[in-house]
Amino acid sequence: MARFSCYIFLLLFIFTINPCLAVDQIDEFSIIDSDLLSSHGDYSPPSPPPPSLPPLPPSLSCEEDLNGIGSLDTVCELNSSFSFDSDVYIAGNGSFHVLPNVILSCPMKGCSISINVSRGEFSLGQNAGVFTGTLFVSARNASFSKGSVVNVSGLAGQPPAQTSGTPSGIQGAGGGHGGRGASCVSDNMKLPDDVWGGDAYSWSSLDKPWSYGSKGGTTSKEEDYGGEGGGRIRLEVEEAIEVGGSLLANGGDGGVKGGGGSGGSIYIKAHRMTGSGWLSASGGNGFAGGGGGRISINVFSRHDDIEFFIHGGKSFGCPDNSGAAGTYYDAVPQSLIVSNHNMSTNTDTLLMEFPKQPLWTNVHVRDHAKASVPLLWSRVQVRGQIRLSCSAVLSFGLAHFASSEFELMAEELLMNGGADAIVATSLLEASNLVVLRESSVIHSNANLGVHGQGFLNLSGPGDTIEAQRLILSLFFSIKVGPGSILRGPLENASDNDMAPRLYCEFQDCPIELLHPPEDCNVNSSLSFTLQVFG
Ligand SMILES: *[C@@H]1O[C@H](CO)[C@@H](O)[C@H](O)[C@H]1NC(C)=O
Ligand SMILES: *[C@@H]1O[C@H](CO)[C@@H](O)[C@H](O)[C@H]1NC(C)=O
Ligand SMILES: *[C@@H]1O[C@H](CO)[C@@H](O)[C@H](O)[C@H]1NC(C)=O
Ligand SMILES: *[C@@H]1O[C@H](CO)[C@@H](O)[C@H](O)[C@H]1NC(C)=O
Ligand SMILES: *[C@@H]1O[C@H](CO)[C@@H](O)[C@H](O)[C@H]1NC(C)=O
Ligand SMILES: *[C@@H]1O[C@H](CO)[C@@H](O)[C@H](O)[C@H]1NC(C)=O
Ligand SMILES: *[C@@H]1O[C@H](CO)[C@@H](O)[C@H](O)[C@H]1NC(C)=O
Ligand SMILES: *[C@@H]1O[C@H](CO)[C@@H](O)[C@H](O)[C@H]1NC(C)=O
Ligand SMILES: *[C@@H]1O[C@H](CO)[C@@H](O)[C@H](O)[C@H]1NC(C)=O
Repeated sequence: MARFSCYIFLLLFIFTINPCLAVDQIDEFSIIDSDLLSSHGDYSPPSPPPPSLPPLPPSLSCEEDLNGIGSLDTVCELNSSFSFDSDVYIAGNGSFHVLPNVILSCPMKGCSISINVSRGEFSLGQNAGVFTGTLFVSARNASFSKGSVVNVSGLAGQPPAQTSGTPSGIQGAGGGHGGRGASCVSDNMKLPDDVWGGDAYSWSSLDKPWSYGSKGGTTSKEEDYGGEGGGRIRLEVEEAIEVGGSLLANGGDGGVKGGGGSGGSIYIKAHRMTGSGWLSASGGNGFAGGGGGRISINVFSRHDDIEFFIHGGKSFGCPDNSGAAGTYYDAVPQSLIVSNHNMSTNTDTLLMEFPKQPLWTNVHVRDHAKASVPLLWSRVQVRGQIRLSCSAVLSFGLAHFASSEFELMAEELLMNGGADAIVATSLLEASNLVVLRESSVIHSNANLGVHGQGFLNLSGPGDTIEAQRLILSLFFSIKVGPGSILRGPLENASDNDMAPRLYCEFQDCPIELLHPPEDCNVNSSLSFTLQVFG
């Protein structure tokens, strides 16, 4: 086993310094990251094209085409169920009401129902339903009554081009989207986290998700048993929306012979939202579970008690490794939640580049979600709080492929770029708090800087921050609760993990050493594990 010496600094600054220098440098690195990203398929889920508004074919008419009562330019009420066999467009200057118990359906993959009553109201009555691949509603007000269902589960059309959400091979792996699909194949050459099914995509539109989920893989050469991807729901409401029913965009079930499909997309934009409905863009169950999809809510005034689900699907072939969690983005506070609803997994939810202007407010990884920032040099920076709870994991670095092309190229570029001592450091930064609870872990197999101006709380047993070289700085207060661990370098580090960099060869001290020892020699067996037993 490789033995790593030296170079762990635990610097706790109780005063504030100007972090601009470091931030500028990191900005440069991010540019390099994205260049590198685009050169490697596995780590570059391409951005989907921007959401395209549905085309505007002639609208169906209320009485003739829909057997309804009234007119779409005043009030149209639908009192009998209707099934379409191709895309439809329903529009007018009035309101459109689907009365209780009425079902509108176009139960074909990728079929789209678009409703534009942007000056009036759309309502779905009690126990009424819409079953299709895509539902787009534009209205002044909208109401989805208690007991109503919009179900686009397992009815996805094509996922964005050039994404690899559907796994290849016949391993029955899950489809990917907001999170990766699971794979039940065990490969002795790889760690469990390096094995996955369909990959994640559409990170860049997680604030306005509009991608279909992906199909799961099959276990048979002859037959395709994979579950279908989840569809799309988009509700754009000028004033008020009531969500009392269910909006479902789950991945389809693959059974014991096929991987689960990945969850689809749900996007709600409104001024005000009420109701205690249920939103779900979860991965489908299957031999290996599908990844969760993406949900985003952009509502200025929320008075709702909505429950949301973005977890991966169950894996019948490997119950401990369900699909990865998808993403839930709350656009007004700019907060991201990654939750796997306590379904245990080894499969990653990829967090790609975080916006810099403005920064997001909070990031919460919870309930057994396993989030990964898959670049060696990267930055997770938020204005507010980074919180991990209930066995959540946030890991940095190209796990287990430390000497990758990325690393070498980046190192070269950065070394040429001048005296950048902090080059190999990923950065996790929160202005207020970094909180870990209930066995949550932040891990990096390279250098990791954790900065914050407020509290760092590791609250109890199993809460761990570990890296080959760990730099904690700026915190006002660090609390390491009973059984929590801060560790560097990694216990049992392998050849795959990055050797901590020797800084002694530099003329200047690394900039994070604001108060360096006189000779810059900080190698002296400074590796540490800080563990508090309660
Ligand atoms: C729908 O309304 C029309 C007109 O009021 C009526 O003739 C018809 O019976 C109703 N259909 C159902 C299913 O209630
Ligand atoms: C809807 O209202 C607009 C503006 O008042 C008008 O120009 C348009 O003709 C109306 N459409 C219909 C179908 O009545
Ligand atoms: C909906 O219809 C209105 C006209 O009534 C039009 O201005 C608007 O662009 C349409 N919205 C969409 C999303 O098609
Ligand atoms: C929309 O709802 C608000 C109250 O929530 C109401 O005042 C307004 O008249 C409604 N507008 C339409 C077009 O239904
Ligand atoms: C939604 O659709 C899926 C796939 O067709 C189906 O399995 C599920 O039972 C439906 N759920 C509801 C509540 O309609
Ligand atoms: C996950 O488990 C924890 C601890 O058992 C519990 O507090 C939490 O509510 C659970 N979360 C969900 C979404 O079930
Ligand atoms: C973090 O720890 C500090 C000091 O023990 C405590 O005052 C604070 O409430 C904790 N914050 C959270 C969010 O756990
Ligand atoms: C490191 O190895 C020791 C001895 O083999 C083992 O007890 C320990 O659990 C390992 N630690 C980790 C984090 O894998
Ligand atoms: C630390 O550095 C000193 C002087 O630079 C050197 O003599 C010593 O061998 C180094 N120790 C380790 C563990 O690398």
